[in-house]
This record gives sequence, structure tokens and C-alpha cells, in this order.
Amino acid sequence: MTGDLRIPDPPGEPLRNAVSRRIGALPPVSPIGVGYWRTVGDDDTNRGALEAAFGLCERGEALLVDNADVYGLDWGGSHFGACEEALGRLLSRDSTLRDRIVLVGKGGIIPGVPYDSSPDWIVRAVEDSLGRLRVDHLDAWLVHRPDHFTHPADVAAAMSSLRQRGLVAEFGVSNHTVAQVRALQQHLGFPLACVQPEFSPASLDAMRDGSLDWCCETGATPLAWSPLAGGRLADGGDAPPALLEALDAIAAREGATRAAVAVAFVLAHPSLPVALVGSQDPGRIAALAAARHVRLDRSDVYRIVQASDGRPLP
Ligand SMILES: NC(=O)c1ccc[n+]([C@@H]2O[C@H](COP(=O)([O-])OP(=O)(O)OC[C@H]3O[C@@H](n4cnc5c(N)ncnc54)[C@H](OP(=O)(O)O)[C@@H]3O)[C@@H](O)[C@H]2O)c1
Repeated sequence: MTGDLRIPDPPGEPLRNAVSRRIGALPPVSPIGVGYWRTVGDDDTNRGALEAAFGLCERGEALLVDNADVYGLDWGGSHFGACEEALGRLLSRDSTLRDRIVLVGKGGIIPGVPYDSSPDWIVRAVEDSLGRLRVDHLDAWLVHRPDHFTHPADVAAAMSSLRQRGLVAEFGVSNHTVAQVRALQQHLGFPLACVQPEFSPASLDAMRDGSLDWCCETGATPLAWSPLAGGRLADGGDAPPALLEALDAIAAREGATRAAVAVAFVLAHPSLPVALVGSQDPGRIAALAAARHVRLDRSDVYRIVQASDGRPLP
């Protein structure tokens, strides 16, 4: 150490966040997709939200819509499968919708069990989802949470049979450790195309537990759930005040909302995640399109990381 503390100006290069995403061989999708977990409104309300979500797509991009068979049991929903049925009604009323959507399903959570990824259940879960969604195939299907008591070779066999029958094009897993993902991949004759971890400025584990690194390694696409931490990063909630302050400062500079900056942070990771937003409000959904235009550099993202951690990086 010479005592010379002069630090060169950082390049301040903007991080890539706006480019289209690819999930396996599926058509390009917008980097912001929508989730159906909280979709318990009536058909007109849900149609309005979906129309707003199409505004998140740029030319040539489909909209990724994430659903699961278990959605509909909470958030004021009525039963297992209700959110798939809601989307199925919209798809059956407008035959043009299906081609504009990359349709992602999940299964394997059965409240009371609570996890079953046995081959019989996986096959039945997908067949039942197709019926509720009123479609002949899913673009991607994911195991929602790991079933520790099913061998990954059996999960792989079920996935392969669904693919051979043309019922599902691409596969992935959600909330799995990297070791679990690798074990499954080892038994599968084709690459897993996506994973679905929680990832937001308030929840950085996926960036540090290898989940996003595994995507960089293989080219699989992370579908980041709860990018606004379930709304806490937009409305304040119980998010760390220092994190809200950091997001607000960048938002003021960018002329953007705090929510848009939070989504832009998720999009800026080099694994090129799709941020799955969950708002049911057409105005709020439309406003998130601005996330694609927020310019973040490394000082910005590390400011957010340190505010989230509550301590400086070494
Ligand atoms: N794989 C898994 O285990 C798992 C777990 C959780 C979620 N997911 C997926 O991820 C999707 C998104 O999750 P999420 O709903 O928690 O995502 P989120 O986008 O982090 O949170 C959405 C919530 O934030 C609220 N919100 C408040 N202010 C907002 C603003 N300015 N802009 C946008 N939203 C605002 C929304 O309320 P309003 O509707 O009133 O705008 C909504 O309740 C789910 O639908 C599901 O598909 C997967």
C-alpha cells in the first residue's frame, strides 16, 4: 500500500436488462412476465390485467404467463385449480390469445400432503392443468417444490413421457437447490430450460446460492418470483428503510418509480431473468414497462445489494 488512495473513475457502463428472453426453443418473451397466483378477480377484471400485461411486450415478443394448479387456494380464491380455470376461460373466449402467450404451469404441491412428484402424479397434474386451461399443450411445466421422496430419475421419466406425447415443450423446477437441479438434469435426456427461484432486491439468495450461476452455466432462464417482494418494495411495507432509500434515490435520478427500479435490478443480472410480476392492477402493470428503460450501472446494483444486506460489501 503506497498511501495513494486515488481511485479511477468507474466506467459506469449500463447493465443489460431490456433484451428479449428465450426459454429453450420457445419463442422470445418479454423480460417482464406475469404471474397468476393472485388472479382471483372476475373475467373482465382478469382480461383487463392481461391486456395491460401485453403492453410489457415489445415487437416480436410473447408474454410469459406463469400459473400453477395450486393457485386459487389463497388470496381470496376458492379452490385448487381456480387460477388455471380463470385463465382457461379467457383463452377459450379469444382464440388469438394462446399464440401471444408463453404458457408456464407448475404442479406437485398438494396441500395436506404437501409435495408429490411421483411420475403418476406429475402426469395426472399436467393432464388436469391442460383441461382447466383448455389448451392442448403447455409451453413449459415446472415442479413447484422439491419432493424429497421421489428419485430424480422418476421425475425425469415423467417429464420425458410428457414431452414425447407433445403435452409439454420445455421443463424446469422451482424452489430447488442447485444440487437437486443437477441430480434431475443428470437423468434427463434434454436440458432443463428454466428454474423459478425467488429473487428481488429484498431477496438475494438466488444470486448467492448458485441458482443464477447454474443458469449462466447452462443457459437456462431464471423466472424470478416476487420481484417486488410481494409488493413490499413498491408500497414500503416492512422492507428495510435503507433499501427503500437506495431504490428511491435511483428512481429520482431515472425519473422512474421505485417499483420499476426494483424490477430493473432483477433484469440486470447476467443470467437474464424474466421478472414475474403479480399485480392485478392494469395501471400498475403498465407502469412496470418503464423497468426496461431504467439504466443501472454497477455502482447502482451494488448500492442496492449493500442496502439490502444492511452492511457494506468487503
Ligand atoms: N414458484 C413459487 O413458489 C412462487 C412463489 C410466489 C410467487 N410465484 C409467482 O410469481 C408471481 C408474482 O409474485 P408476487 O405476486 O408476489 O409478485 P410481486 O410483483 O413481487 O408482488 C405483487 C404484489 O405487489 C402489489 N403491489 C403494490 N404496489 C405495487 C406496484 N406499484 N406495482 C406492482 N405491484 C404492486 C400488488 O398489488 P396490486 O395487485 O394491488 O397491484 C401485488 O399484491 C406469482 O403470481 C406467481 O406466478 C411463484
